[in-house]
Amino acid sequence: MNVILLLFTVAATALAATPADWRSRSIYFLLTDRFARTDNSTTATCDTRVGKYCGGTWRGIINQLDYIQGMGFSAIWITPVTAQLPQDTPYGQAYHGYWQQDAYSLNPHYGTADDLKSLASALHARGMYLMVDVVANHMGYDGASNSVDYSFFNPFNKQEYFHSYCPITDYDNQTNVQDCWLGDNKVSLPDLDTTRSDVQVMWYDWVKSFVSNYSIDGLRIDTVRHVQKEFWPGYNEAAGVYCIGEVLDGDASYTCPYQKYLDGVLNYPMYYPLLRAFKSTSGSMGDLYHMINTVKDNCPDSTLLGTFIENHDNPRFASYTKDMSLAKNVAAFSILADGIPIIYAGQEQHYSGGSDPFNREATWLSGYSTSSPLYKLLARANKIRSHAIRQDAKYLTYKNYPIYSDTTTLAMRKGFNGTQLITVLSNLGSGGKAYTLSLMGTGYRAGTRVTEVFTCTTLTVNADGSVPVPMASGLPRVLFPTGKLSGSAICI
Ligand SMILES: *[C@@H]1O[C@H](CO)[C@@H](O)[C@H](O)[C@H]1NC(C)=O
Ligand SMILES: *[C@@H]1O[C@H](CO)[C@@H](O)[C@H](O)[C@H]1NC(C)=O
Ligand SMILES: *[C@@H]1O[C@H](CO)[C@@H](O)[C@H](O)[C@H]1NC(C)=O
Ligand SMILES: *[C@@H]1O[C@H](CO)[C@@H](O)[C@H](O)[C@H]1NC(C)=O
Repeated sequence: MNVILLLFTVAATALAATPADWRSRSIYFLLTDRFARTDNSTTATCDTRVGKYCGGTWRGIINQLDYIQGMGFSAIWITPVTAQLPQDTPYGQAYHGYWQQDAYSLNPHYGTADDLKSLASALHARGMYLMVDVVANHMGYDGASNSVDYSFFNPFNKQEYFHSYCPITDYDNQTNVQDCWLGDNKVSLPDLDTTRSDVQVMWYDWVKSFVSNYSIDGLRIDTVRHVQKEFWPGYNEAAGVYCIGEVLDGDASYTCPYQKYLDGVLNYPMYYPLLRAFKSTSGSMGDLYHMINTVKDNCPDSTLLGTFIENHDNPRFASYTKDMSLAKNVAAFSILADGIPIIYAGQEQHYSGGSDPFNREATWLSGYSTSSPLYKLLARANKIRSHAIRQDAKYLTYKNYPIYSDTTTLAMRKGFNGTQLITVLSNLGSGGKAYTLSLMGTGYRAGTRVTEVFTCTTLTVNADGSVPVPMASGLPRVLFPTGKLSGSAICI
């Protein structure tokens, strides 16, 4: 009995997940309020426009873990869990979690502390990780900047902990970005003075006990560029788990340096050219090709970035185009390029909401269909990625290498000779012609048999090393050596 208890204790405390542990993961990102309800309803109304709580809970997430894991995800990222401003503001309620007031209490709309701990346990029982979103830059207040009652905040209950008010007006002025306030006079976001050592100690103490209390495996950190870089190493270290920061800027020379201060950042530099390449049938493949190399060269480690095409801050991909082939290509890129894939709940159901708040649709209204085209594509893409990782642990640190592009096609390679995975993307769209792409540069030897894993077609590498890739309907193609597929349950 004592031995068993001891084992449980060891298991529960030995989990601190490192960047290396996270590299092989695939993340499903969800807004707790919008993903699943305790009653498992698939009909409860949720009007995104009004910005109010729709009833999603941590218990609801537990009930839908089969749905998430069935797509091959091995981690979830959930929106902030701390207690928020309770009012109904001109922008609605704090259902998203970015208007925190009490860092030491949980948002009661999502459940209890036991519910959150149960979510962590349920994930760990499946070998999955829990990533929680955190905000250190600001608190939230219902009202104008000059009306803020600082005693509402915990632990930052005095004005002296905050920068004095100024609005952010100039994103080219880093001092302005760091010292001034986000928000406006309807909802103020009082900006913490993170240069104060007492504020640093309060946050570092908080994050250490927060991660420990709820058995959290990783953190997604909000508004990282609005805090001075020097704040982050101490925060990351106190957290003791992989931290990925949001630096909302597409310029690799601006965003990549943050990775010297935090384990990872969201790959915004890739997001914009990825969107431009596939949001229409005339997008630029060349820009995407170049950005793959730019990110590799500029970021300290492109394999620890978070790769995505959708989130709650940007319009859904399907708000630009309803073309299913284009959606499949961006989804395949997100899973098979460098870094940790991040797919936003609803993407698998081809949700098409535009800018915030319209991109925050309730996932339950889809009925959690596991037969939707993108659900199946994501499941297959995650499966081949996991298999490639099992075949060669160095797959993960092999830097994605673009081997070919033309005006409508991009091919890229990950993995060493013998187990390399080749992804061929197209932006021809669903009406794209059928043709054979003669692809060089894969590294496959002449005569090797390779399987296209979405169609289970077997191809043989030509004597000159070219691979005859059958393209059709603008669909993505993924190649892996046929002889290395055993045990994968893919095409066999
Ligand atoms: C919701 O689903 C879970 C998991 O399938 C089940 O255990 C639970 O009883 C359901 N709850 C309700 C209220 O139907
Ligand atoms: C940058 O922003 C800070 C804070 O708002 C301000 O004091 C400073 O004058 C600005 N610098 C320039 C060059 O505009
Ligand atoms: C974690 O739990 C301890 C012990 O109950 C408590 O003192 C601390 O405030 C908690 N930390 C957070 C962030 O909730
Ligand atoms: C992989 O194969 C290609 C083509 O056969 C060859 O040029 C390259 O040197 C090989 N790389 C490694 C690391 O063996």
